[in-house]
Amino acid sequence: MKPKRIILAGGTGFLGRLLAKALADRGDEVVVLTRRPEADGSAARAVYWDGRTMGPWVAELEGADAVVNLAGKNVSCRYTPEALREIIASRVDSVHVIGDAIRRCLNPPAVWVQTGSLAIYGDAGDRICDEEAPAGEGIPVETCLRWEQAFADSPTPVTRRVWLRISFVLGRSGGALRLLEGLTRWFLGGRVGGGRQYISWIHEADMVRAFLRAVDDPAMAGIYNATGPNPVTNAEFMRELRRALHRPWSPPTPAWAVPFGCFFMRTEPVLALTGRRAIPRRLQAEGFTFQHPDLPEALSQLYQPTQAPTP
Ligand SMILES: NC(=O)c1ccc[n+]([C@@H]2O[C@H](COP(=O)([O-])OP(=O)(O)OC[C@H]3O[C@@H](n4cnc5c(N)ncnc54)[C@H](OP(=O)(O)O)[C@@H]3O)[C@@H](O)[C@H]2O)c1
Repeated sequence: MKPKRIILAGGTGFLGRLLAKALADRGDEVVVLTRRPEADGSAARAVYWDGRTMGPWVAELEGADAVVNLAGKNVSCRYTPEALREIIASRVDSVHVIGDAIRRCLNPPAVWVQTGSLAIYGDAGDRICDEEAPAGEGIPVETCLRWEQAFADSPTPVTRRVWLRISFVLGRSGGALRLLEGLTRWFLGGRVGGGRQYISWIHEADMVRAFLRAVDDPAMAGIYNATGPNPVTNAEFMRELRRALHRPWSPPTPAWAVPFGCFFMRTEPVLALTGRRAIPRRLQAEGFTFQHPDLPEALSQLYQPTQAPTP
């Protein structure tokens, strides 16, 4: 395949770094749009943007093969009014400005791949959520609805469009697994609350393969659940994580204790106490196969002794 030129907006984070490496490994040219180009230590070329206004960065999109937008303030924080404002604005504004930039190109990118979240389905109990499932309720849902609306309001007539509703990505170099790993190593990896809330998850390698497929496959368009085929309950997830980390037992964390723990970890109880059982209906219907579909294998692959976390 001819090398491509791919623009990664917000490509300095957990998923951006994984994707940048995979693209560079196959010979593509990667340009990262970041608010701090001087701090980007990756091999990619880093270009300044502020995530909300036009600037010289727009020229990078001209003739690019793809733009992938991964920008957004991390949601693992306390939902103060200021944090909530930034969580929403960083997502909505970056979508709007990328749409504007694409429409200004004489030779627009072939595809716009946009990250979203499965949180749009809300606290869905044990109901199976494919891409047709209704949106739920609550602050994370409102954020996702505004994020997806911004994309709908930013048409790009020539550029193919893919929206990935991403689940909990399992990797050791970033994301929420690091937090759960730390707790579990300290014998605090018991089930949370009733333990019946579902966790939809995807191994980082499969997540990267889904991104690459979205970039490369001209048939992919619209909304996809980017999650593995086998969601599990919180109780099952924590049991398998304890097993992978050789911690056979930990006391359960009662629901009333979660707000206290989250306060000290500077995060929100809703992230631990709610869940959804999502499936990758469209990816599978279109022939995508998962290298790590089962949780015990996925975790043991991540924690095998030779698999040191990348920085
Ligand atoms: N990781 C997961 O499990 C997961 C699950 C569901 C959805 N997602 C979504 O996938 C995307 C990428 O996830 P990630 O885990 O790679 O996130 P991440 O590590 O938090 O990185 C996100 C990037 O967004 C940029 N950013 C942060 N605040 C910003 C702001 N106010 N304005 C503009 N840019 C800002 C940062 O780049 P600079 O500081 O360099 O500008 C940062 O590197 C996010 O939109 C996230 O919500 C991730």
